[in-house]
Amino acid sequence: MAFDLLIRGGKVWLPEGARNVDVAVIEDRIAAIGTPGVLSAETVLDARGLHVLPGVIDTHVHFREPGMEHKEDLGTGSRAAVLGGVTAVCEMPNTRPATTTAEALMDKLARAHGRMACDYAFFLGATADNADDLAMWEQMAGCAGVKIFMGGSTGTLLVEDNAMLSRILSAGRRRVAVHCEDETRLRERSFLVHENGVPTRHELWHDAETAFLATTRILKLARNSKRNIHVLHVSTKREISLLRKNRDIATFEVTPQHLTLSAPQCYKCLGTLSQVNPPIRKKYHQDALWTAVNEGIVDCLGSDHAPHTLAEKAKLYPTSPSGIPGVQTLVPIMLTHVAAGRLSLSTFVALTSTGPARLYAIAAKGYIAVGFDADFTIVDLKARRTIDRSWLASRCGWSPFEGMTVTGLPVCTIIRGHIVMRDGCVLTPYNGRPLRFQEA
Ligand code: DOR
Ligand code: ZN
Repeated sequence: MAFDLLIRGGKVWLPEGARNVDVAVIEDRIAAIGTPGVLSAETVLDARGLHVLPGVIDTHVHFREPGMEHKEDLGTGSRAAVLGGVTAVCEMPNTRPATTTAEALMDKLARAHGRMACDYAFFLGATADNADDLAMWEQMAGCAGVKIFMGGSTGTLLVEDNAMLSRILSAGRRRVAVHCEDETRLRERSFLVHENGVPTRHELWHDAETAFLATTRILKLARNSKRNIHVLHVSTKREISLLRKNRDIATFEVTPQHLTLSAPQCYKCLGTLSQVNPPIRKKYHQDALWTAVNEGIVDCLGSDHAPHTLAEKAKLYPTSPSGIPGVQTLVPIMLTHVAAGRLSLSTFVALTSTGPARLYAIAAKGYIAVGFDADFTIVDLKARRTIDRSWLASRCGWSPFEGMTVTGLPVCTIIRGHIVMRDGCVLTPYNGRPLRFQEA
């Protein structure tokens, strides 16, 4: 058979484990997986010494378009993604305007068409006004589902009260992504940072109780409404204990920054550059996140790529915005944890490919298997580099991980059979297509 592309000689992460096999592609699909040296194709990619992983899916990015293109846009954000080995993203609704109507969603899809380097889907933001329409709109092509902000952050999206949350949860069927911070408690405690200027206070204001209260509340409401939820960027030890007991209705995400940075050092070294909601917390919270990762109860890693410019971040805390970029550094940072023996490569694959595809029911992605989309993140586990600004493609132009030497880098990003990134160069910047989802 004539194949278009052959990935030859690599260690390939199949559903049954890592195998020395060759992978052949016809058009946009995986067409055959075979014994090394048997298959041939027009284009051959030499993967000797490399690991061929299923494409990394980052289900939590903020690409800021429309309305805040000075921080990022769909083009710059998606180029950062593919340079970081990410093959698909789900983008959040807190843009300007927020993605809270069918028109706003269609506008994002129209903007994405022909301008994104990776595959994509967009979240709808839940509000008091659109609750009754979400059930219909969440079925639209290119929609990743519904996102609820229980605590305010960048933008104006916020749903606080239980009655409204229940209405949103009762309408629709797909898993709902939730930012869990209790807005009432945040408001009550804002005096702690009033004209304060000291970002160390961020984790005191947005404390562990703020997250725990919201997660407890949404779990109860989700159970009453019989709706599955996905808790984003879990950051506390107590939430882990709670989520462990609610795996039947709730999946959850952790981020590389919460697994890598810790308080109070991050605030001392990085100041507002490490300010994010929910905050980077003390080591014992991070230890609980790692225990959960290695127990296999975490469902996915998301970068929560939330770029702001350095000028914005230079404002005095707490007027400085929360959020840090991360779509390009997710893979290298986590592979560095693999190199250090904190994480197995099979857990990495579960958290970045299989998990995201399963929890959002993304069609034909997440596995290297015949018939699936030919998406691959090819990594060199031994390659080292220091994260610096010359490598970063995000318009915001910085990373909290600058200066860190990472071990393990993506060397090739393949999306539906196209070699989109190779050795740090974007070869195909406009290849992105909307993700498809299985029926809920
Ligand atoms: O720190 C954050 N920044 N948390 C969020 O939930 C939103 C994000 C942003 O969009 O800047
Ligand atoms: Zn976010």
